[in-house]
Amino acid sequence: MGTEPQFQSLPVVTLDGHSGSGKSTLAQRLAERLGWSYLDSGAWYRALTWAVLEVKGDTRDSQVVLNTLSSIRIESNPKGQVLVNGQLLGNELRTAIIDHHVSNVADHVIVREALNQRMRQMLEEPGVQGLVADGRDAGTVIFPDAGLMVFVEVPLEVRAQRRFEQNQRKGIDSNLSDVTAALANRDARDAARGDAAPQITKRSRLLDNSNQTVEEAIGCLLEWTAKNRLVR
Ligand code: DC
Repeated sequence: MGTEPQFQSLPVVTLDGHSGSGKSTLAQRLAERLGWSYLDSGAWYRALTWAVLEVKGDTRDSQVVLNTLSSIRIESNPKGQVLVNGQLLGNELRTAIIDHHVSNVADHVIVREALNQRMRQMLEEPGVQGLVADGRDAGTVIFPDAGLMVFVEVPLEVRAQRRFEQNQRKGIDSNLSDVTAALANRDARDAARGDAAPQITKRSRLLDNSNQTVEEAIGCLLEWTAKNRLVR
């Protein structure tokens, strides 16, 4: 008893969903609109992966990953960008190598527990008015007492088409069937993580983000936030 942190004093909204569902964009904008902090939990997994690779550690070894986590300071700035030991990490977290290794890191239950504890501490930082967190298990595991828990639903084909168009805009060479297969593969890997797999719970509100603009989705999220009395 007494090990669980008391994080209900500040309002929390969580957005979970599959890779490519657009939840990070929504979570970041929602946090901006509310004047709250933003936690991109996937970026924390990526940052930890980056730190393990920096010391040439084996991401499949849970003890190595845990030791690395114990030796670093990891935090988010108000925009939700992640810093490790004060170093701001951006594009470094979005490389193919990180993509490849991050699932190994996220597979370690013992690492997840330690990282979750660190994420919860964001609520204890001075000046934080509230938190919008996104990920796979942000509501189900990290902040189970969140005042609003949202699951962002977008079918695989729509996510793949969006990712493909995003690649085209960035000048990245890809084809739709490879992008679809890669997303399906990540969904399967995420689904195999038991309690940490993306799940719709009895408390989740479903946001079907297939045909909405970002502004429409934000309007919906703001309405739910107000309905749940998380803002005055
Ligand atoms: O959302 P993303 O692609 O940045 O997530 C990176 C990885 O972290 C991905 O393998 C899923 C994992 N992840 C997780 O296991 N739990 C979370 N709450 C967030 C991300």
